[in-house]
Amino acid sequence: MIKKVYIETYGCQMNVADSEVVVSILTDAGFKTADNINDADLILVNTCSIRENAEQRIWRRLKAISYLKKKNKGIIIGLIGCMAERLKEKVLEEDRFVDIVAGPDSYRELPLLFAEAESGHKAVNVLLSHEETYADISPVRLDKNGVSSFVSIMRGCNNMCAYCVVPYVRGSERSRDPETVLREVNELFNSGYREVTLLGQNVDSYRWDKDGLNIGFSELLEKVAGIDPLLRVRFSTSHPKDISDELLKTISRYDNICKHIHLPAQSGSNRILKLMNREYTREWYMDRISAIRKFIPDCSISTDMISGFCTETEEDHQASLTLMEWAGFDFSYMFKYSERPGTRAARKNKDDVPEDVKSKRLTEIISLQNKLSALSKKNDVGKVLEVLIEDYSKRSRDFMSGRTSQNKVVVFPDKGYYKGDYVQVLIERCTSATLLGKVTKH
Ligand code: SAH
Ligand code: SF4
Ligand code: F3S
Repeated sequence: MIKKVYIETYGCQMNVADSEVVVSILTDAGFKTADNINDADLILVNTCSIRENAEQRIWRRLKAISYLKKKNKGIIIGLIGCMAERLKEKVLEEDRFVDIVAGPDSYRELPLLFAEAESGHKAVNVLLSHEETYADISPVRLDKNGVSSFVSIMRGCNNMCAYCVVPYVRGSERSRDPETVLREVNELFNSGYREVTLLGQNVDSYRWDKDGLNIGFSELLEKVAGIDPLLRVRFSTSHPKDISDELLKTISRYDNICKHIHLPAQSGSNRILKLMNREYTREWYMDRISAIRKFIPDCSISTDMISGFCTETEEDHQASLTLMEWAGFDFSYMFKYSERPGTRAARKNKDDVPEDVKSKRLTEIISLQNKLSALSKKNDVGKVLEVLIEDYSKRSRDFMSGRTSQNKVVVFPDKGYYKGDYVQVLIERCTSATLLGKVTKH
């Protein structure tokens, strides 16, 4: 009988891309995908360890999934991804309904692990690799719109940021063969996709020096953008210490490379940045923002901020706020520091900022960002912007929605457009989350 797999994905875009690789591997092994969890023979939960609350959420979800297993003992439950890697066999002690534990570099083994689990044994593979990039695997697309997709160009991370669990759960950094990246993007474009996001924990350090090729991130980006002017290219994440003028110039030269850079600052205080081992200063970060503004004047910039890292004082916190205000970020992802076992900060620094202080500072960071985001959207009112249509609006089938090159969501009345079309939209007003307007040119 044909087996069916159902996969749930938590965490970052990298996990979204990995789930597509996982489904591809299982499809090649004869599985079909189940649209409904109740029809599945194999339930996979692709997990995230970045903050404690990310893991807690997954434990709660696993409890709910266990009920299905109580009803039908034949179901196999697999925990895969970063949390599987972090906890290894301990997962099985925490939740006796889990049958498979597989880390991010052992997905090729999933068919074997499934067979082992079916024969009644717990199956664990959490080996990390220095080479695995799943380069040859054509991911099975799981997105709903068929317009935009993620393409992984590297795995792992070599930057030991003191707070971060990623290097431990994803292993060391390795770049993917550029030929396979280009082949995958070409396939996407030919099957109707109009936007790709190239993914890595630190895309600026992408490097391929093999088979007579010497390619860094700028060159790769240029090659991907060269596939077709109708293909939009995004990328994430850039690291402030590594983002180069050369890259900024490349972005400015191509209309189809999106004018948005996600450049996580984490903190505005030099003392904290040093403790975090981020390897740049506030001044360096500001210089990089100035360079972006100089080479790409219409570029939007977003960031990640952490509040309440070890020893953070009110003065350090104020430095984060003034940096945000100075940079005028278009949007941000903002977090309370969460100590992760085994990281450098967990070993060396006390998690000594009280919870209520962390919360208060986070609230201040969020309310400043709300103000900056509102300003950023107001500045767009009156402009005519190019929008790539992604789908109908969430609220009504009479409206469609898409994004600008700057990654802002735009909603406008549908006059018979299609997903994947480019339209020019006159921005008439904005809400807290979206720009609203009407199409002036199709
Ligand atoms: N590689 C990317 C992003 C990694 S994780 C980068 O370097 O920017 C995404 C974000 O989660 C980080 O930018 C950071 O802001 C946040 N984060 C990571 N570890 C964290 C922790 N222990 N507590 C709170 N936030 C954390
Ligand atoms: Fe984590 Fe730093 Fe690597 Fe980003 S660059 S994944 S924050 S260690
Ligand atoms: Fe991503 Fe979470 Fe892993 S942020 S790399 S899924 S720990």
